[in-house]
This record gives sequence, structure tokens and C-alpha cells, in this order.
Amino acid sequence: MFSKLKLITGNANRPLAEEVARHAGIPLGDIELFKFSNDESFVKINDNVRGADVYLIQPTSYPVNDSLMDLLIIIDALKRASAQRINCVIPYYAYARSDKKDQPRVPITAKLVADLITVAGADRVVTVDLHADQIQGFFNIPVDHLYAIPSFARYFKSIMQMEDIVVVSPDSGGANRARALAKRLNCSMAIGDKRRSGNDDNSELLNVIGDVAGKTAILFDDIIDTGGSLIKMARALQEQGAKKIFAACTHGVLSGKAVECLEASPIEKLFITNTIQLDAHKASCKKIVQLSIAEMLAIAIKKIHIGESISLLFR
Ligand code: R5P
Repeated sequence: MFSKLKLITGNANRPLAEEVARHAGIPLGDIELFKFSNDESFVKINDNVRGADVYLIQPTSYPVNDSLMDLLIIIDALKRASAQRINCVIPYYAYARSDKKDQPRVPITAKLVADLITVAGADRVVTVDLHADQIQGFFNIPVDHLYAIPSFARYFKSIMQMEDIVVVSPDSGGANRARALAKRLNCSMAIGDKRRSGNDDNSELLNVIGDVAGKTAILFDDIIDTGGSLIKMARALQEQGAKKIFAACTHGVLSGKAVECLEASPIEKLFITNTIQLDAHKASCKKIVQLSIAEMLAIAIKKIHIGESISLLFR
């Protein structure tokens, strides 16, 4: 059993960490994190963490490489300060889409990041909606993989009449995810048949498999990045006669002109979680609604600390 539970955070999503701390009833630890003028990061942990079970909350969100480097150097500082166990709570795992060698001479960066985190000294990773479940296997340490689906399902049931709803995955890769949400909402599902071409962000939607005419469609995906995939799919759904179109994604990366594209799209509302902190521009978009996963993380942390099952979070 670990005696002291400590919560600390880097700079990637302080509001989420503060909310987790409130739900857990544990204050955030005191750390200093800054950059020297030469762009190198520095961290100093001001609390005693010797012998502690530490939960370090740091999504690897924008600026991705800074967030990742900060995560690594905080792990290193904790290890050298004799923390007994270092649990990395990484609600958004960047580089997850680079998870296979599907072209000649390309990296598998999701695996490289797993190695970096492990070598730095992490004992466990707690994460939410990995782009692909098998990324868990890139780690040789325990990975507690949490899902936002129960939170989305509860929310949709509370705001929508559950009639004529269809959950739509924008591609075949997300079909299991969409099926899981459709099952909870007791509704049908459809799949976009998308072809991605080249190395850039462009993707080409070819077809919609499933019946969407006259229905309220909930497009469901793990990540909205540029918005290209979802918005093309939304237009295809509109052409196929969908009555209303909503979208839900766990991770609101929203890079480039995503917000402007969303505003101009047939998507009425985009529901995302707070795994990634929104800047003021994104937060002011009237189409975006954020659901909090802070309580789920707080419950997971407390249960992991005392060695209890976390399976109630999957109900
Ligand atoms: C792709 O397989 C992912 O699940 C997302 O659909 C995709 O990465 C989202 O990217 P974007 O918003 O740039 O189309």
C-alpha cells in the first residue's frame, strides 16, 4: 500500500488538474516549471514526494513537443526525488495516430513516445480514448485506459429525445467506438467509407454505409484535429437527408482553421471533453460544448491508489 497520494500537474491543462484535485479532495502539489531564455525547460518540485504515490497530470497537447518534454522532465525530477510510484495521467496522448509503419521509411512515433515515458521513469499510465486500443501494448508498464463513451452517453440521454438517432463513425477505424455509443443510446449506427490520400491532412469521403435519412446524426470520433474528416462526413450526411447533425469527439485538438470550418459547417453542435484545454478563441465558439472528465479521472486515481478495480468507470 502506498502511504501518501500526491497530485501534481505540468502546464498543459491546469484547469483540468485543478478540477481533478477538487473532486479528489487533494491539493495540487507545488512545482515550478519555466523556460530559460535559451528555450530549455526547467522544473523544481517544491513538495516532499519521497515515498509518495504520485499522479502527474499532463496531456501532451499543444504545444505538443513542449508538453511532452515537460512530462518527461517532471517524471525525471520525481524519480530523483525518490517518489515511490510515478503514475502519468495523460488524458490526451499525442502522436497516437502514428501507430504503424504503413508507408516506407516512416516512424512509429506513438511507440517512441511510450519508450520515452517509460525510460524517464513512469510506473503507470492513465489515459483516455487512445486513437487505437493496441497502443496500450507499446508500454511494458500498466496502462489504465479510460473511455469518455459513458460520459457522452449519459449527457446525450439527458439532453436529447432518443428517437431517430443514428451514431455515425466517419471511418471504419472508428466503427467499434461508434457501435459502443450506439449500444448505450439504443440506436442504429452508420459508417463513412473514407479514403485518405497522400501525407497531408486531406481525406476523401466516398460513401455512407447505413440509413441516415430523416434522422438526427451524431458523428462520433476520438479526435477532431483540423475538422476535415468530420466536416466532409457532415456534408455527406446532409446530402443523404440527415435531419440534424451533431458531432462528439473526446479530444478537441482543433488545429489550424478548425473553428472557422466548424462554424461554416452543417454541424449544429460539437461536444468535446476537457482532455485538452481550449484557448479563448476556441472556448468562445458557440457551437462547442465541453464535457468534463475530471470526476472520472479523480475516481480512477483514488481507486488505483488503494488498489481497487476501476471497472465501475466503464459502466
Ligand atoms: C482518424 O483516423 C482519426 O480518428 C480522426 O478522424 C482524424 O485524425 C481527425 O483529424 P481531422 O480533424 O484533421 O480530419
